[in-house]
Amino acid sequence: MSRAKGIVVSSRLRQFHRWVSIAFTATVIANFVALAKGTPPPWVIYSPLLPLAVLLLTGLYLFALPYTVKWRIRSGA
Ligand code: HEM
Repeated sequence: MSRAKGIVVSSRLRQFHRWVSIAFTATVIANFVALAKGTPPPWVIYSPLLPLAVLLLTGLYLFALPYTVKWRIRSGA
């Protein structure tokens, strides 16, 4: 991947991570609201897991990014 393309992909991914974090927060709040009204249905209880899994994958990519850039600069690619 060219350097310019890499920057576009990483900034899109950062934006994606940011918006999924909002969705994740909404599902956690929904859990508290549902809990206040009694036992929530299982789909409400498990709803944060999908956005959390997406956050984990995109977050690990964002974490690795500065290191892969350093490797590429060092290897002259
Ligand atoms: C589950 C594992 C997660 C991992 C491994 C992870 C990792 C990361 C990393 C490495 C960054 C970039 C930091 C930087 O270079 O400045 C980041 C940014 C961010 N993370 Fe996560 N994250 C995770 C989950 C979450 C969750 C649960 C939330 C919020 C509910 C969240 C919200 C954010 C936000 C708002 C940013 C800033 C994005 C931006 O630059 O606009 N992340 N995360």
